Amino acid sequence: MPRAPKTKPLENIPTGGPQHVAIIMDGNGRWAQARGRPRLFGHHAGAKRVREVVEACPDLGIKYLTIFAFSTENWKRTQTEVAGLMSLFRRYIAKETRALAEHGTRVRFIGDRMRLDRKLIKLMDNLEKETENNDRVHLTIALNYGGRDEVARATRRLAQDVADGNLCPDDVNEETLPRYLDTHVLPDPDLVIRTSGEARISGFLLWQSAYSEYEFIDTLWPDFTAKELGELVVSYRTRDRRFGAVAV
Ligand code: FPP
Repeated sequence: MPRAPKTKPLENIPTGGPQHVAIIMDGNGRWAQARGRPRLFGHHAGAKRVREVVEACPDLGIKYLTIFAFSTENWKRTQTEVAGLMSLFRRYIAKETRALAEHGTRVRFIGDRMRLDRKLIKLMDNLEKETENNDRVHLTIALNYGGRDEVARATRRLAQDVADGNLCPDDVNEETLPRYLDTHVLPDPDLVIRTSGEARISGFLLWQSAYSEYEFIDTLWPDFTAKELGELVVSYRTRDRRFGAVAV
């Protein structure tokens, strides 16, 4: 019986690590409220931090950066905030495409596009296409993303392949299942950072972060800098990652 799709993770690049950093960009609302401004003001300030962080990656040896921009649960926010965020994403993509392309960044989106508006999807497709030959930094933006939702969507596709006779149930394992995830071309994150003092993962990269190192830091996302990222990278390099084995 034919096997699961043959998509393989991109080549692993040794850097001393972390090769892949994932960030839950939290605290925009509190940052704005502390200044007596509406929450969207914080989201705009947060969007401005993204470029500095992306551009810092090559010098820090970070090849993959994945950022959580909008979760499947964020639709529960007020209509004003959701509409403002969607408008921000459209403007951000339109405005940043050139800078990202020139910086050598390859952009991908993960998450369920079905609920996003057509104009935004078109901009996302265009940004992915415009940057598809770049390889300096691989930036993945999680938009309408939820880890459980991703696993459910992956399982649906996998089940369909089994029903169609393209995959044998005995071949469903830790190697074949991730080929159905949105992140199938990415290595697992080495380091997951959450800003704003909250110590939870909110469904971010549930499968992929099984052995990731975590950093929960107090800084609110609009205050996060390349310097702080550098400090977290240095701290990561002192960690002893054993992946369930014992130190020798
Ligand atoms: C969480 O802060 C942040 C979000 C839900 C949106 C994240 C979006 C950005 C950083 C800006 C846009 C990003 C891109 C890629 C253009 P919060 O609102 O939950 O903050 P709070 O916990 O203080 O209320």
